[in-house]
Order: sequence, then C-alpha cells, then structure tokens
Amino acid sequence: MPQASKTTIFETRLGFYLAAIGSAFGLGNLWRFPYVVAQNGGGAFVLLYLFMVLLVGVPFLIGELMLGKISRSSLVPALHKLAGERYQVRDVRESEVKPAPWLRWLLKNAGTLGLVTTMVVLAYYAVISGWVLHFLMQLLVSLFNPERFHADGALKVLLDNGWLQLLLTSVHLLLVAIIVANDLEFGLEKWVGYCMPVFVILMIALAFKSLSLESASEAMQFLFYPDFSKLTLKSPGQAIGHVFFTLSVGFGSMVTFGSYLREKMYLPMAGFRVCTLDSAISLWAGVMIFPLVVYGNSDFGGPQLLFQTVPKLVSVMPGGHWFGVGFFLCLYLASLGASIGLFENVVANWREMRRVPRQRGASMVALIVFLLAVGPALSSSVLSGVRVGGRGLLEFLDEALINWCLPITALVVSQVVAWLLKTELMAAEFNDRESAGSERLYKNWIFSLRYVTGPIVVIALLLQLIAQF
Ligand code: ALA
Repeated sequence: MPQASKTTIFETRLGFYLAAIGSAFGLGNLWRFPYVVAQNGGGAFVLLYLFMVLLVGVPFLIGELMLGKISRSSLVPALHKLAGERYQVRDVRESEVKPAPWLRWLLKNAGTLGLVTTMVVLAYYAVISGWVLHFLMQLLVSLFNPERFHADGALKVLLDNGWLQLLLTSVHLLLVAIIVANDLEFGLEKWVGYCMPVFVILMIALAFKSLSLESASEAMQFLFYPDFSKLTLKSPGQAIGHVFFTLSVGFGSMVTFGSYLREKMYLPMAGFRVCTLDSAISLWAGVMIFPLVVYGNSDFGGPQLLFQTVPKLVSVMPGGHWFGVGFFLCLYLASLGASIGLFENVVANWREMRRVPRQRGASMVALIVFLLAVGPALSSSVLSGVRVGGRGLLEFLDEALINWCLPITALVVSQVVAWLLKTELMAAEFNDRESAGSERLYKNWIFSLRYVTGPIVVIALLLQLIAQF
C-alpha cells in the first residue's frame, strides 16, 4: 500500500541535501549545542561530541537513509514491513521466517516511540521557536526606537506570560503546517532552499563580529582546549543524545527522506556529507556564541543561555541592534528548516499508514502538536509549580526525550537495519563505480553497527542511568 501512495520524491540531489541538511541543522546547533557544551565543561565535551558524530552518528544516519530507501517507506510502515505485518509490498527482510512475537512487538513499538518523540519534540521546539520570534520582533522594533528594548524585560515578559508563548507557538506551527501542506518540491525544498543561503551569509558575518570582541580568545580556549576532568558519567550519554538530536536521527526523519530518494544516490557519501556539514555548522555556531557568553559574563546556564546572553549585548555593542536582528533571524530560519523536517516526517508516516491526503495530514499534525505544546508553553508561568525530577516541564522534556527516547529509538532502528534488512539490497547501495573498496566499506559499516556502535550507545545509556543515583 505505501508504495502506491509514495508519489513524493526528491527531484534533484540538491533537493535531498537541502532537506536533509535543513532538517539536521536547527536550534540543536545554535541554541542547544552551546548550553550542553557549557554544562559539560567545554573543549573536552566538544571532542567527545565530534568523536561520537564520526563513530555513531555517521553509521546510524546511513542506516536510517538505507531503511527508508530500501523499504520505500517512512519509519513506522518500514518497521511493520520488517515485522511481516500489513505492508507486504516488497520483500525487504533478510530471513523468510516471520520474526518472533517479541520482535514484532519491538518493531511496532519502536516506530511508535519514534513518532511520539518527534511530535513532543516538535511541540517544545515550537515553543522555543516562538521565543525566537518574540526577540526577533522586539529587536526589529528597536531598530526604529532603541530605547524600547530591554533585554531582561523582554525575557521576563515572555516567561511570565504563557499565553503569549502559546500564541507565538501557534504562529510558528501554522507557518510550518502551511509549508508542509504544499507538496515537497513547492514546500520543503523551496523554503529550505530560500532560507539556507541567507542563513549561511548571516552566520559568517555574525561569527566575524563575535570574534572581534575582546572576549574571543578566552571563549576559544573554553571551546577548544580539552580539560577531560570536567567530563562526568553523564557526558557520553549527553553527547550521543545531542548527536542524534542535531542529526535528526532517531525521529525517523532520515528514514522518510531516504524513502523520497530516487534510485541513484550513493548513501554512504550522502550520510557522511550531512554529518560533517552539520558538525561544522555546530562548531561555527560555538565560535559565534561563546565570545558573546564570555563578553556578557553570563553564567553557563541551561536552555535560557542564548536568550539571556545575546539580547543583553545588543544594547552595549556597537551596531548591536542590527547584530541582534541578524542573529535572531538566523536562529529563526534554522528552527524553521528543522521544524519542517520533523513535521514532514510525522505527516509522511501518517499519510502512509492512514492514506490521508497531505493537507489533511498537515492540519491534524498541527492540531495535535499544538495541544502537546500547551504544557511546555505554560511551564514558566501558569504551570511553574509543576516539577518533574526537580526540573521544570521544558527542561524535563528536553532531558527525557533527547537523552533517552531518541537514543533508544535510534538504537533499535540501527539493529533492525544491521540484522533484519536484506543484505543483498544494502550491499547494492554501497556499490559505486567511482569508489573502489565499496565492498569493504559495506562490511565495515555492518560490523560497526552490529558490534561497535550499538554497544557504545548501550554503555552510554547505562552510565547515564548510574549517574541518576
Ligand atoms: N536536528 C534538528 C536540530 O538540530 C532537530 O535542531
């Protein structure tokens, strides 16, 4: 069934790269990366993170693209196909024997976990995107009337007023839903294509501006000098969680994008390029943001780090208001691209499972995500008394979803690819006339998924668990 409804494809390689990179690159790189690095002591964590990108991120990302391309399905229907249920269109299983009941249960629930995680992440992501919109609008007004902008005041208004947050969240979700409701070529590809060049130019200009501050050398030392004593038992789990979040692995987005690929695409290279570009942008974001943090003498706090630091500098830096507008525009474009990728993933799964048209699917997803966003949007005001494990709702969701749910789904998907997907089809995807040694590369990739990366994720999760007590 899904095969018949799968009319969506990337028309060009560029279309695929724009969508995959636009989806990978988002608030994770600009908003989350700096505060997770700051909380984990700087340079040593950056090294650990880069190591995890290469060791775990690249093979997992290739695995997700592979699952989508071979099964021609998004995450949930792909796992149903492997479970031998309902979606028996193309034989994608290595073994002809139907999996044992426990495995079928795991396959079906892992897909559901991935999809639920995506929707809840999308909900709190939309709340943070609403914060970005708020600062962007405030700073735009301040270009004409600089006295009206008060950094602390702007954040306080937002945090005290949950309904304002909900309004901004709905504006963001509406925009994303309208873009996704249009077909791929006119929706996702077009918008990400518009945003990317603006975004890259802004990032370069802003980083040079940051590097001209006197705080730059101290900031670079913090970011790049590794002091391993600052790492904790939680650090490997946090690095892996962030790798998955920033690469959009574990949500199923990359499975969906893999399913939109035409026949000719060398997946190992595609996966490698997306990972390296995303990491380069994260590092560049660090270079842009840490001089500001040190300059503003901010404590290296949590999710509010960026929103406390950058606006404060706007009033004291020469040309600060323009800098602020550029910065928040950049942040918003990034969050828009990533939100579109996550949203497209949910809609694609929904369309394949329930045969709903794209527009109706987009409206339904927007409504559900909006309802899920009510909690996080009100978490700093009406619901500020609600604490889970000593944390506010937003921090709790961030920790639970990214450090636990994503790695668990990603782990299951990687093992499904490594053990259940037809080896002959996967090996064919590694065949490339231009690249000698494709067979060896394929063997190394499968070996690493089965015996190296899987156990590393399990150990990181266990260490994280021990650190809870
Ligand atoms: N990959 C997206 C981000 O980093 C979700 O923001």
